[in-house]
Amino acid sequence: MTRRYRFPDGFLWGAATSAYQIEGSPLADGAGPSIWQRFAHTPGMMANGDHGNVACDHYHRYKDDVQLMRALGLQSYRFSVNWARVLPEGTGRVNPKGLDFYSRLVDELLENGITPNATLFHWDLPAALDDRGGWLNRDSAHWFAEYAAIMFKALDDRVPYWSTLNEPWVVVDGGYLNGTLAPGHRSPFEAPIAAHNLMRASGAGIQAYRAHGKHAIGVVFNIEPKYPASDSAEDLAATRRANAYMNQQFADPALLGSYPAELVEVYGDAWPDFPPDDFRLTKQPVDFVGLNYYTRAVVRHDANAFPLRAAPVPQPQHTRTETGWEVYEQGLVDMLTGFRERYGDIPLYITENGSAFYDPPTVEGELLQDPLRVDYLRKHLQAAHRAIEAGVDLRGYYAWSLLDNLEWSLGYAKRFGLYHVDFATQKRTPKATAKLYAGVIASHGEALDAS
Ligand code: GAL
Repeated sequence: MTRRYRFPDGFLWGAATSAYQIEGSPLADGAGPSIWQRFAHTPGMMANGDHGNVACDHYHRYKDDVQLMRALGLQSYRFSVNWARVLPEGTGRVNPKGLDFYSRLVDELLENGITPNATLFHWDLPAALDDRGGWLNRDSAHWFAEYAAIMFKALDDRVPYWSTLNEPWVVVDGGYLNGTLAPGHRSPFEAPIAAHNLMRASGAGIQAYRAHGKHAIGVVFNIEPKYPASDSAEDLAATRRANAYMNQQFADPALLGSYPAELVEVYGDAWPDFPPDDFRLTKQPVDFVGLNYYTRAVVRHDANAFPLRAAPVPQPQHTRTETGWEVYEQGLVDMLTGFRERYGDIPLYITENGSAFYDPPTVEGELLQDPLRVDYLRKHLQAAHRAIEAGVDLRGYYAWSLLDNLEWSLGYAKRFGLYHVDFATQKRTPKATAKLYAGVIASHGEALDAS
């Protein structure tokens, strides 16, 4: 029997990118430096010494890139705004040329029939604000609301989807606990404070939207379902801690107005007493939630793993991507159904999903063959369809990513793009994944039908 994968009418098909990863020219036209600009130019922090000075040169080539989107039949494009282009010092003085870049991008999208979906913060905090304490400073909520209001006033007439933050967990885990991402701190005392202020900022941004905006705003979380390695009490408790730390630490204050109890076990003495009033700010009504899915983790107790006392158990029976992530499409279904169970029926979008694999050299005039990425995309789109059949209110899917780009501190070697980018020449070449995705979009999913 053939399984049918037609998606509901109105399901939104898109692709996603972020500013520092693709734009290049991070200081052009009066922009201020961001913490990523700083971090990428700190010796030893980036694989291969890579940085975002040029990246995909999207700052200059955005019109051509919109044509690539059009060739795929994309209905929506999710991008992020580099805060320091618009406010070089993070607050106060607006840089009109920076704002104008995003205005021109939005116009170009609309002229090509593509719906813009803007993320306000995808990790590139203005360096001037980091100098004032960054996310450790409680004023960060006001800074963010000021910036958000400027963006809403400038673009809400043309941008119908907004997100406050992208993946605050990664900002905190990489930027404040483990030091692998900007701003490169390593402190269990800082991590919960940064996390809390990020969610206060998100709440303040949503409040600002209610005053200035007319369409829809939400927030984007990365969710990695956690499965216990055994049913021992220790492994089950470790799995609960890992789940609370990664999957609930941000969604709970935003959607439930509280923190999961396990966080006290995770952080111990480093867990602060937060003013109860703060949760009135963090919990704001959202119009949708964006969820990013890449992989899952099987978890066991590990007394030496600080601070979680939990460790992942590799699953050799499944393919792993070049970032070491297990390919496990059922996790996407479990993420979506689990999210609905905990937080209720909120409209959901998959705002990122994709895979890094080695790509063969490009051949002039030919599609780049990337069978492992094709397989990943097909399986995850089929899983998304199963989640809809199970009753999840899933409204759209954004592939990560439109282009190969700067994979943060892992540099340019990890390629997630639908289009291959030759970083020496900036030539874009479609991959077989792009062809599959275009076919899926054109057929409302029927290209996924399989026996
Ligand atoms: C996400 C992030 C993206 C991209 C992707 C692939 O965590 O939002 O910017 O890097 O992972 O690793």
